[in-house]
Amino acid sequence: MQIYFDNAATSHPKPYCVVQAVKRALTEANANPGRSGHRAAIEAGRIVLDCRERLATLLGAGDAMRVVHCFNCTDALNLAIKGSLHVGDHVVATCLEHNSVLRVLYALAQRGRITLTLVSPGPDGFVDPEDVRSALTPATALIVCTHASNVTGAIQPVAAIGQVAKAAGVRYLIDGAQALGGMPVDVKALGCDLYAFPGHKSLLGPQGTGGLYIAPGIRLNPLREGGTGTDSHSLLQPETLPERYESGTVNLPGIAGLAAGCEYVASRLSQIMMQERELTQALYEGLNAMEGVTLYSPAQEAGRAGIVCFNVGDLPSAQAADALARRDIAVRGGLHCAPEAHRFLGTLRRGAVRASIGHANTFEEVERFLQAVRALL
Ligand SMILES: Cc1ncc(COP(=O)(O)O)c(C=O)c1O
Repeated sequence: MQIYFDNAATSHPKPYCVVQAVKRALTEANANPGRSGHRAAIEAGRIVLDCRERLATLLGAGDAMRVVHCFNCTDALNLAIKGSLHVGDHVVATCLEHNSVLRVLYALAQRGRITLTLVSPGPDGFVDPEDVRSALTPATALIVCTHASNVTGAIQPVAAIGQVAKAAGVRYLIDGAQALGGMPVDVKALGCDLYAFPGHKSLLGPQGTGGLYIAPGIRLNPLREGGTGTDSHSLLQPETLPERYESGTVNLPGIAGLAAGCEYVASRLSQIMMQERELTQALYEGLNAMEGVTLYSPAQEAGRAGIVCFNVGDLPSAQAADALARRDIAVRGGLHCAPEAHRFLGTLRRGAVRASIGHANTFEEVERFLQAVRALL
Protein backbone atom coordinates (compact mmCIF):
# COMPACT_ATOMS: atom_id res chain seq x y z
CA MET A 1 0.00 0.00 0.00
CA GLN A 2 1.32 3.39 -0.98
CA ILE A 3 2.13 5.91 1.75
CA TYR A 4 1.11 9.32 0.43
CA PHE A 5 3.09 12.07 2.18
CA ASP A 6 2.85 14.63 -0.63
CA ASN A 7 -0.28 16.45 0.57
CA ALA A 8 1.41 19.86 0.36
CA ALA A 9 1.49 19.38 -3.44
CA THR A 10 -2.10 18.14 -3.68
CA SER A 11 -4.16 16.19 -1.18
CA HIS A 12 -4.79 12.47 -1.61
CA PRO A 13 -7.09 10.63 -1.31
CA LYS A 14 -9.99 12.94 -2.01
CA PRO A 15 -12.99 11.97 0.15
CA TYR A 16 -15.57 9.87 -1.71
CA CYS A 17 -18.16 12.66 -1.36
CA VAL A 18 -15.84 14.83 -3.52
CA VAL A 19 -15.68 12.16 -6.25
CA GLN A 20 -19.46 11.77 -6.14
CA ALA A 21 -20.05 15.53 -6.34
CA VAL A 22 -17.83 15.79 -9.44
CA LYS A 23 -19.75 12.95 -11.08
CA ARG A 24 -23.12 14.48 -10.16
CA ALA A 25 -22.11 17.84 -11.64
CA LEU A 26 -21.11 16.19 -14.92
CA THR A 27 -24.33 14.20 -15.15
CA GLU A 28 -27.19 15.96 -13.34
CA ALA A 29 -26.06 19.61 -13.58
CA ASN A 30 -24.10 19.54 -16.81
CA ALA A 31 -24.84 23.06 -18.03
CA ASN A 32 -23.30 26.51 -18.05
CA PRO A 33 -23.81 28.12 -14.62
CA GLY A 34 -25.17 31.66 -14.56
CA ARG A 35 -26.04 31.65 -18.27
CA SER A 36 -29.22 29.88 -19.45
CA GLY A 37 -32.41 29.55 -17.37
CA HIS A 38 -33.19 25.84 -17.76
CA ARG A 39 -33.21 23.34 -14.91
CA ALA A 40 -29.64 22.04 -15.25
CA ALA A 41 -28.22 25.57 -15.67
CA ILE A 42 -30.01 26.71 -12.51
CA GLU A 43 -28.67 23.70 -10.63
CA ALA A 44 -25.15 24.43 -11.92
CA GLY A 45 -25.48 28.05 -10.73
CA ARG A 46 -26.66 26.81 -7.33
CA ILE A 47 -23.57 24.57 -6.98
CA VAL A 48 -21.22 27.48 -7.78
CA LEU A 49 -22.94 29.70 -5.20
CA ASP A 50 -23.02 26.92 -2.60
CA CYS A 51 -19.25 26.47 -2.96
CA ARG A 52 -18.68 30.23 -2.70
CA GLU A 53 -20.70 30.34 0.52
CA ARG A 54 -18.83 27.39 2.04
CA LEU A 55 -15.49 29.01 1.17
CA ALA A 56 -16.63 32.32 2.67
CA THR A 57 -17.53 30.53 5.92
CA LEU A 58 -14.12 28.81 6.11
CA LEU A 59 -12.39 32.15 5.43
CA GLY A 60 -14.53 34.16 7.86
CA ALA A 61 -15.24 36.39 4.86
CA GLY A 62 -18.81 37.39 5.65
CA ASP A 63 -19.97 38.31 2.14
CA ALA A 64 -19.64 35.27 -0.15
CA MET A 65 -19.64 37.54 -3.23
CA ARG A 66 -16.17 38.66 -2.20
CA VAL A 67 -14.80 35.14 -2.82
CA VAL A 68 -13.84 34.66 -6.45
CA HIS A 69 -13.35 31.25 -8.05
CA CYS A 70 -9.94 30.81 -9.69
CA PHE A 71 -8.22 27.89 -11.44
CA ASN A 72 -5.61 27.31 -8.71
CA CYS A 73 -3.68 29.33 -6.14
CA THR A 74 -1.24 30.58 -8.80
CA ASP A 75 -4.13 32.04 -10.79
CA ALA A 76 -5.46 33.76 -7.65
CA LEU A 77 -2.00 35.17 -6.81
CA ASN A 78 -1.57 36.49 -10.36
CA LEU A 79 -4.93 38.26 -10.14
CA ALA A 80 -4.13 39.72 -6.73
CA ILE A 81 -0.62 40.91 -7.66
CA LYS A 82 -1.06 42.06 -11.27
CA GLY A 83 -4.50 43.44 -10.48
CA SER A 84 -3.06 45.60 -7.67
CA LEU A 85 0.17 47.04 -9.02
CA HIS A 86 0.96 50.10 -11.13
CA VAL A 87 4.18 51.37 -12.72
CA GLY A 88 6.55 52.70 -10.06
CA ASP A 89 5.12 50.65 -7.18
CA HIS A 90 7.35 48.98 -4.62
CA VAL A 91 6.51 45.54 -3.18
CA VAL A 92 7.69 43.87 0.02
CA ALA A 93 7.57 40.06 0.03
CA THR A 94 9.49 37.36 1.90
CA CYS A 95 12.20 34.91 0.89
CA LEU A 96 9.81 32.12 1.79
CA GLU A 97 7.43 32.82 -1.10
CA HIS A 98 6.57 30.23 -3.71
CA ASN A 99 7.44 30.91 -7.36
CA SER A 100 3.73 31.59 -7.84
CA VAL A 101 4.49 34.87 -6.07
CA LEU A 102 8.19 35.35 -6.85
CA ARG A 103 8.02 34.79 -10.61
CA VAL A 104 5.06 37.13 -10.94
CA LEU A 105 6.92 39.85 -9.03
CA TYR A 106 10.26 39.25 -10.78
CA ALA A 107 8.58 39.41 -14.20
CA LEU A 108 7.13 42.83 -13.29
CA ALA A 109 10.47 43.98 -11.84
CA GLN A 110 12.40 42.78 -14.89
CA ARG A 111 10.14 44.86 -17.15
CA GLY A 112 10.96 47.86 -14.95
CA ARG A 113 7.39 48.23 -13.76
CA ILE A 114 7.97 47.67 -10.01
CA THR A 115 10.78 47.43 -7.47
CA LEU A 116 10.93 44.61 -4.95
CA THR A 117 12.36 43.96 -1.49
CA LEU A 118 12.52 40.41 -0.12
CA VAL A 119 12.62 40.09 3.67
CA SER A 120 14.47 37.07 5.11
CA PRO A 121 13.16 35.12 8.07
CA GLY A 122 15.19 34.92 11.27
CA PRO A 123 17.29 31.83 12.02
CA ASP A 124 14.17 30.23 13.51
CA GLY A 125 12.43 30.34 10.10
CA PHE A 126 9.87 33.01 11.01
CA VAL A 127 9.69 36.48 9.46
CA ASP A 128 9.91 39.36 11.95
CA PRO A 129 7.06 41.86 11.31
CA GLU A 130 9.51 44.63 12.28
CA ASP A 131 11.69 43.66 9.30
CA VAL A 132 8.64 44.03 7.07
CA ARG A 133 8.00 47.47 8.56
CA SER A 134 11.64 48.49 7.97
CA ALA A 135 11.44 47.43 4.32
CA LEU A 136 8.52 49.77 3.55
CA THR A 137 9.15 52.86 1.44
CA PRO A 138 6.77 55.68 0.46
CA ALA A 139 6.25 53.79 -2.84
CA THR A 140 5.28 50.47 -1.22
CA ALA A 141 1.90 49.45 -2.61
CA LEU A 142 1.76 45.77 -1.61
CA ILE A 143 3.01 43.40 1.07
CA VAL A 144 2.92 39.68 0.25
CA CYS A 145 3.48 36.93 2.81
CA THR A 146 2.91 33.20 2.76
CA HIS A 147 0.69 31.99 5.63
CA ALA A 148 2.83 28.85 6.06
CA SER A 149 6.04 28.03 4.21
CA ASN A 150 5.54 25.22 1.72
CA VAL A 151 9.16 24.16 2.35
CA THR A 152 9.49 24.14 6.14
CA GLY A 153 5.83 24.41 7.20
CA ALA A 154 6.69 27.40 9.44
CA ILE A 155 3.49 29.34 10.14
CA GLN A 156 4.31 33.02 9.68
CA PRO A 157 3.10 35.86 11.97
CA VAL A 158 0.59 36.92 9.33
CA ALA A 159 -1.73 38.77 11.74
CA ALA A 160 1.15 40.89 13.11
CA ILE A 161 2.27 41.66 9.55
CA GLY A 162 -1.36 42.65 8.87
CA GLN A 163 -1.06 45.26 11.62
CA VAL A 164 2.11 46.62 10.01
CA ALA A 165 0.30 46.84 6.66
CA LYS A 166 -2.72 48.53 8.19
CA ALA A 167 -0.63 51.09 10.09
CA ALA A 168 1.20 51.96 6.87
CA GLY A 169 -1.94 51.93 4.72
CA VAL A 170 -0.42 49.32 2.39
CA ARG A 171 -2.43 46.62 0.62
CA TYR A 172 -1.75 43.15 2.08
CA LEU A 173 -1.90 39.79 0.31
CA ILE A 174 -1.57 36.44 2.09
CA ASP A 175 -0.74 33.26 0.18
CA GLY A 176 -2.87 30.70 2.02
CA ALA A 177 -1.82 27.69 -0.10
CA GLN A 178 -0.56 25.70 2.90
CA ALA A 179 -3.07 26.99 5.43
CA LEU A 180 -6.75 27.14 4.44
CA GLY A 181 -8.43 23.85 5.35
CA GLY A 182 -5.57 22.80 7.63
CA MET A 183 -5.92 25.51 10.27
CA PRO A 184 -8.51 28.10 11.28
CA VAL A 185 -8.43 31.17 9.03
CA ASP A 186 -10.22 34.46 9.68
CA VAL A 187 -9.39 36.99 7.00
CA LYS A 188 -10.74 39.87 9.11
CA ALA A 189 -8.66 38.97 12.17
CA LEU A 190 -5.60 38.56 9.93
CA GLY A 191 -6.14 42.08 8.58
CA CYS A 192 -5.55 41.07 4.98
CA ASP A 193 -6.99 42.71 1.88
CA LEU A 194 -6.47 39.66 -0.30
CA TYR A 195 -6.22 35.97 0.59
CA ALA A 196 -5.30 33.50 -2.18
CA PHE A 197 -5.88 29.76 -1.78
CA PRO A 198 -5.95 26.50 -3.76
CA GLY A 199 -8.97 24.19 -3.65
CA HIS A 200 -6.98 21.01 -4.22
CA LYS A 201 -4.76 20.91 -1.13
CA SER A 202 -6.20 20.97 2.42
CA LEU A 203 -9.70 21.81 1.16
CA LEU A 204 -9.62 18.36 -0.50
CA GLY A 205 -11.17 19.54 -3.77
CA PRO A 206 -10.13 18.54 -7.30
CA GLN A 207 -7.13 20.04 -9.12
CA GLY A 208 -7.97 23.12 -11.17
CA THR A 209 -9.75 24.85 -8.30
CA GLY A 210 -8.82 27.74 -6.04
CA GLY A 211 -9.93 31.23 -5.17
CA LEU A 212 -9.24 34.72 -3.96
CA TYR A 213 -10.89 36.62 -1.11
CA ILE A 214 -11.10 40.34 -1.88
CA ALA A 215 -11.84 42.64 1.08
CA PRO A 216 -14.47 45.38 0.83
CA GLY A 217 -13.09 48.51 -0.80
CA ILE A 218 -10.38 46.63 -2.73
CA ARG A 219 -10.65 46.96 -6.50
CA LEU A 220 -8.42 44.97 -8.83
CA ASN A 221 -7.82 45.18 -12.55
CA PRO A 222 -9.10 41.85 -13.89
CA LEU A 223 -6.63 39.42 -15.46
CA ARG A 224 -9.20 38.50 -18.11
CA GLU A 225 -12.14 40.27 -19.64
CA GLY A 226 -15.00 38.37 -21.24
CA GLY A 227 -18.50 36.97 -20.95
CA THR A 228 -20.01 36.78 -17.49
CA GLY A 229 -23.66 36.04 -18.35
CA THR A 230 -24.59 39.44 -16.84
CA ASP A 231 -24.86 43.00 -18.25
CA SER A 232 -24.42 41.56 -21.73
CA HIS A 233 -25.49 44.80 -23.43
CA SER A 234 -22.35 46.49 -22.06
CA LEU A 235 -18.98 46.18 -23.78
CA LEU A 236 -17.27 47.02 -20.49
CA GLN A 237 -16.24 44.47 -17.89
CA PRO A 238 -18.77 44.60 -14.99
CA GLU A 239 -17.75 46.25 -11.74
CA THR A 240 -19.81 43.81 -9.64
CA LEU A 241 -18.27 40.90 -7.76
CA PRO A 242 -17.71 38.06 -8.40
CA GLU A 243 -18.44 38.54 -12.15
CA ARG A 244 -15.71 41.15 -12.60
CA TYR A 245 -13.05 38.48 -12.02
CA GLU A 246 -14.80 35.33 -13.31
CA SER A 247 -15.06 35.72 -17.08
CA GLY A 248 -15.79 32.58 -19.08
CA THR A 249 -17.18 29.23 -18.02
CA VAL A 250 -15.99 28.22 -14.56
CA ASN A 251 -14.73 24.73 -13.66
CA LEU A 252 -18.14 23.38 -12.63
CA PRO A 253 -17.13 19.77 -11.84
CA GLY A 254 -14.12 21.05 -9.91
CA ILE A 255 -16.19 23.58 -7.99
CA ALA A 256 -18.82 20.92 -7.17
CA GLY A 257 -16.05 18.70 -5.80
CA LEU A 258 -14.58 21.64 -3.89
CA ALA A 259 -17.95 22.38 -2.27
CA ALA A 260 -18.07 18.77 -1.06
CA GLY A 261 -14.46 19.03 0.15
CA CYS A 262 -15.28 22.23 2.07
CA GLU A 263 -18.28 20.54 3.69
CA TYR A 264 -16.15 17.54 4.65
CA VAL A 265 -13.37 19.72 6.12
CA ALA A 266 -15.71 22.16 7.91
CA SER A 267 -17.53 19.35 9.69
CA ARG A 268 -14.31 17.91 11.17
CA LEU A 269 -11.69 20.68 11.08
CA SER A 270 -10.60 20.38 14.71
CA GLN A 271 -10.33 16.59 14.42
CA ILE A 272 -8.29 16.82 11.19
CA MET A 273 -6.06 19.51 12.72
CA MET A 274 -5.40 17.50 15.86
CA GLN A 275 -4.65 14.31 13.95
CA GLU A 276 -2.35 16.04 11.44
CA ARG A 277 -0.54 17.82 14.24
CA GLU A 278 0.08 14.61 16.21
CA LEU A 279 1.26 12.75 13.12
CA THR A 280 3.55 15.62 12.09
CA GLN A 281 5.00 15.72 15.59
CA ALA A 282 5.61 11.93 15.55
CA LEU A 283 7.29 12.31 12.15
CA TYR A 284 9.44 15.21 13.39
CA GLU A 285 10.47 13.44 16.59
CA GLY A 286 11.22 10.18 14.78
CA LEU A 287 13.47 11.94 12.27
CA ASN A 288 15.05 14.13 14.94
CA ALA A 289 16.13 11.02 16.84
CA MET A 290 18.09 9.69 13.83
CA GLU A 291 21.75 10.55 13.56
CA GLY A 292 22.46 11.63 10.00
CA VAL A 293 19.12 13.32 9.39
CA THR A 294 19.13 17.13 9.06
CA LEU A 295 15.81 18.81 9.82
CA TYR A 296 14.75 22.20 8.44
CA SER A 297 11.23 22.54 9.92
CA PRO A 298 10.59 24.44 13.17
CA ALA A 299 10.87 22.38 16.34
CA GLN A 300 7.78 23.97 17.94
CA GLU A 301 4.71 21.89 17.18
CA ALA A 302 2.42 24.95 17.18
CA GLY A 303 4.66 26.82 14.75
CA ARG A 304 4.34 24.48 11.81
CA ALA A 305 1.79 23.18 9.34
CA GLY A 306 1.76 19.44 8.49
CA ILE A 307 5.15 19.58 6.79
CA VAL A 308 8.50 18.11 7.81
CA CYS A 309 11.48 19.02 5.64
CA PHE A 310 14.77 17.14 5.96
CA ASN A 311 17.80 15.58 4.30
CA VAL A 312 19.23 12.10 4.75
CA GLY A 313 23.01 11.82 5.26
CA ASP A 314 24.67 13.51 2.31
CA LEU A 315 22.22 12.14 -0.26
CA PRO A 316 20.89 14.61 -2.83
CA SER A 317 17.23 15.12 -1.98
CA ALA A 318 16.02 13.85 -5.37
CA GLN A 319 17.92 10.59 -4.81
CA ALA A 320 16.41 10.16 -1.34
CA ALA A 321 12.91 10.89 -2.68
CA ASP A 322 13.45 8.38 -5.52
CA ALA A 323 14.64 5.73 -3.06
CA LEU A 324 11.49 6.29 -0.98
CA ALA A 325 9.34 6.20 -4.14
CA ARG A 326 10.76 2.75 -4.92
CA ARG A 327 9.31 1.68 -1.55
CA ASP A 328 5.99 3.19 -2.64
CA ILE A 329 6.33 6.23 -0.41
CA ALA A 330 5.32 9.51 -2.05
CA VAL A 331 7.28 12.57 -0.87
CA ARG A 332 8.78 15.49 -2.78
CA GLY A 333 12.50 16.24 -3.16
CA GLY A 334 14.11 19.25 -4.84
CA LEU A 335 13.29 22.92 -4.36
CA HIS A 336 9.47 22.84 -4.04
CA CYS A 337 9.19 25.89 -6.37
CA ALA A 338 10.63 28.06 -3.58
CA PRO A 339 14.29 28.76 -4.49
CA GLU A 340 14.78 31.68 -2.09
CA ALA A 341 13.56 29.58 0.84
CA HIS A 342 16.17 26.98 -0.05
CA ARG A 343 18.85 29.65 -0.49
CA PHE A 344 17.99 30.76 3.07
CA LEU A 345 18.23 27.16 4.35
CA GLY A 346 21.52 26.57 2.49
CA THR A 347 19.93 23.81 0.40
CA LEU A 348 19.77 25.52 -3.00
CA ARG A 349 22.05 22.93 -4.65
CA ARG A 350 20.88 19.83 -2.91
CA GLY A 351 17.23 20.61 -2.22
CA ALA A 352 15.47 18.80 0.61
CA VAL A 353 12.93 16.04 1.13
CA ARG A 354 9.45 17.21 2.10
CA ALA A 355 7.02 14.85 3.82
CA SER A 356 3.57 16.40 4.13
CA ILE A 357 0.73 14.94 6.15
CA GLY A 358 -2.92 14.85 5.13
CA HIS A 359 -6.34 14.01 6.53
CA ALA A 360 -6.12 10.27 5.76
CA ASN A 361 -2.63 9.47 7.10
CA THR A 362 -2.05 7.19 10.09
CA PHE A 363 0.53 6.53 12.83
CA GLU A 364 1.27 3.18 11.21
CA GLU A 365 2.28 4.99 8.01
CA VAL A 366 4.54 7.33 10.00
CA GLU A 367 6.21 4.30 11.59
CA ARG A 368 6.71 2.57 8.20
CA PHE A 369 8.06 5.83 6.79
CA LEU A 370 10.57 6.19 9.63
CA GLN A 371 11.71 2.60 9.07
CA ALA A 372 12.27 3.37 5.39
CA VAL A 373 14.40 6.46 6.26
CA ARG A 374 16.41 4.34 8.73
CA ALA A 375 17.04 1.83 5.96
CA LEU A 376 18.21 4.66 3.69
CA LEU A 377 20.65 5.89 6.34
C1 LIG B 1 2.90 28.40 -0.78
C2 LIG B 1 2.33 28.04 -2.13
N1 LIG B 1 1.87 29.02 -2.91
C3 LIG B 1 1.33 28.77 -4.11
C4 LIG B 1 1.24 27.50 -4.60
C5 LIG B 1 0.64 27.26 -5.94
O1 LIG B 1 -0.55 26.54 -5.83
P1 LIG B 1 -1.29 25.96 -7.11
O2 LIG B 1 -0.54 24.74 -7.52
O3 LIG B 1 -2.68 25.67 -6.65
O4 LIG B 1 -1.26 26.99 -8.17
C6 LIG B 1 1.71 26.43 -3.83
C7 LIG B 1 1.66 25.05 -4.34
O5 LIG B 1 2.31 24.17 -3.88
C8 LIG B 1 2.26 26.71 -2.56
O6 LIG B 1 2.71 25.74 -1.76
